[in-house]
Amino acid sequence: SGGKILVLPGDHVGPEVVTEAIKVLNIIAEETGRKFELEVDLCGGCSLDKHGDSVTEEVLQKCLNVDAVFFGSAGGPEWGTAQPNPESGLLRIRDRMQIFANLRPCKFASKALLAYSPIKTEVVKGVDFMFIRENCGGAYYGKKIEEADYGCDPWEYSRPEIERVVRVAGALAMQHDPPLQVYSVDKANVLANSRVWRRIATEVFEKEFPKIQLKHQLADSLALLFITKPTAFNGVLVSDNTFGDILSDESGGLTGSLGLLPSASLAGPPGNVDSKLGRNSVGGVVGLYEPVHGSAPDISGKGLANPTGQILSLAMMLRYSFNMHREANIIEKAVERCLDTREDGGLEIRTGDLGGKAGTVEMSEAIQGEVRRL
Ligand code: NAI
Ligand code: MG
Repeated sequence: SGGKILVLPGDHVGPEVVTEAIKVLNIIAEETGRKFELEVDLCGGCSLDKHGDSVTEEVLQKCLNVDAVFFGSAGGPEWGTAQPNPESGLLRIRDRMQIFANLRPCKFASKALLAYSPIKTEVVKGVDFMFIRENCGGAYYGKKIEEADYGCDPWEYSRPEIERVVRVAGALAMQHDPPLQVYSVDKANVLANSRVWRRIATEVFEKEFPKIQLKHQLADSLALLFITKPTAFNGVLVSDNTFGDILSDESGGLTGSLGLLPSASLAGPPGNVDSKLGRNSVGGVVGLYEPVHGSAPDISGKGLANPTGQILSLAMMLRYSFNMHREANIIEKAVERCLDTREDGGLEIRTGDLGGKAGTVEMSEAIQGEVRRL
């Protein structure tokens, strides 16, 4: 087979944008002759309604037997605050699949997008980095203590957890010639776990990626520099779960448009690295791909959602789980051409979140047209 994909559209706009992305996948399959096996199942509020749980054991098992999971978004006000909440399904999938490296690209592919950034054009122009957040450890996991007058979340990292995530950063950087600059983000000045992180990251790069001169960056000053001088971090950034959560949201904010942002969560390094960790049956890496945005219940059911974040997540899936770099580049180029202004040779088709008039399907069809043409 050309690869197995489990599709979990989820709730609200999830199914609306996933449907459009699958149309793009079908075009790629048609034009390359590659046959993907797709299976669709439930996760989120839809699963709660049908099975009384945000994800079933059966679906968790399926996640372990595919090359990639293609996820929409989960949640909505109708499920209130009852436990388990719809969003917990995704957390359980993440934990089960051990997709510990959460990748969020931040770049201004389209010139036109500079206008949507809340930051001045001359500051964000040329930004192009990949942010990697460790996503299965650190302060968000582990044994918590919650008493009436005392709370504690142990912020722990051990060697294998650090090695595997910084290795993803190195492997990604090595996919470019010359290799990209890598920045490891921590607070080694005050946190013991950060000092261990820094030491082990340094070791991994010296041993496995001698061509890369790893740089270390303090998390707090990065928060500031992201706003004042974001181009200084072009390349690959890698950080732990807590700093990564906050800083990857901030980097998303640079682009000013939630509907455009894709993400990938990988179970190992992409490309040809010695490690067999996380390899899937088609020679890529196991991963889950989803847009950064949530289920957008305020606009769901109206055909207004921007399908771009979901479609760009598809491009990431083709690149990392299926080694289809050319096709991933074509999709990204197609998106760029649709968003670009006419003066820049684009089609200037945009959804409401970008100030345009196009609906989900119109936007998607424009991208599909460009994918076919390219
Ligand atoms: P959200 O991302 O769903 O929406 C925030 C704002 O951005 C809304 O105004 C929405 O209309 C807009 N927006 C989001 N995606 C868009 C798109 N593709 N096109 C155009 N506009 C878009 O975040 P919110 O409102 O905080 O959460 C809504 C629900 O989604 C909640 O139940 C939340 O828990 C869930 N959620 C799920 C995530 C996931 O499945 N990974 C991630 C984040 C939130
Ligand atoms: Mg967050």
